[in-house]
Amino acid sequence: MQIGILGGTGPAGSALGVRLASVGFDVIIGSRSRYRAMEVVDKLLDEWPDRKLSVTAGDNAAAASADVVVIATPWDGAYGTATSVADALDSKVVICMANALTRIGKEFQPLVPPRGSVAASVQAAVPGCRVAAAFHHVPAKELGDITHPIESDVLICSDFQEATDLTSSIVERIPNMRPLDAGGLSQATPIESFTAVLLQLNVRYRTRVAVKFTGIPERGDDSDTQAPDIAGSDEA
Ligand SMILES: NC(=O)c1ccc[n+]([C@@H]2O[C@H](COP(=O)([O-])OP(=O)(O)OC[C@H]3O[C@@H](n4cnc5c(N)ncnc54)[C@H](OP(=O)(O)O)[C@@H]3O)[C@@H](O)[C@H]2O)c1
Repeated sequence: MQIGILGGTGPAGSALGVRLASVGFDVIIGSRSRYRAMEVVDKLLDEWPDRKLSVTAGDNAAAASADVVVIATPWDGAYGTATSVADALDSKVVICMANALTRIGKEFQPLVPPRGSVAASVQAAVPGCRVAAAFHHVPAKELGDITHPIESDVLICSDFQEATDLTSSIVERIPNMRPLDAGGLSQATPIESFTAVLLQLNVRYRTRVAVKFTGIPERGDDSDTQAPDIAGSDEA
């Protein structure tokens, strides 16, 4: 399967690209400049000469021609980038990993973009695609170090079950990562915002945290699971 990454020249997109290539996906690193993408790909391949990674460079239009497309731009570039390749995204699964955040002094603060999340704004910009929001909480440095597995859960939300399922199957290929179905795309608002908390923890504890949830049965072991009674919740 080919996976194209829009804005794949940044730390997040290039790290995800190399990790996905390390588990057998064919990756296209996309950019507004094909030459910048070529520089980044050359650097990645130089770093891992023995791994025979299938990573190629292109502009964002080339990356958008892949089977599955990831959006790895800053939050305020996601809408415009998706729109610029809208035709190529039609009827595809588009994985949005962008977080709307700002830093004020030493504090990271979440921003609320139009429609509540970056992922929802991309879905509105390109209604014909199927957006899944995922990978928001995975630190780029650890993601890009393919000599070590990365321990992390990946929250996935989408209004299309097939987009959640396909994204889950991609995550499952990565050793020690666990996909979790977090519901519909409205959950992208708290998922994206929560990244500000993680970045604040990184500053406070001088580290790079990832997320692991307890209490979730292993796959295949959840048939009898009932929603717990949560006081004050209509859904409980
Ligand atoms: N860094 C992390 O650890 C991490 C982890 C999980 C999720 N994320 C999220 O992933 C996204 C990318 O993170 P990053 O740290 O890699 O960001 P970044 O370096 O700031 O941006 C990534 C790439 O996006 C392109 N870009 C920049 N501004 C743009 C604009 N206005 N319009 C279109 N494209 C633009 C650039 O590529 P070209 O100039 O080559 O086009 C840039 O290399 C962010 O939304 C971030 O919140 C980051």
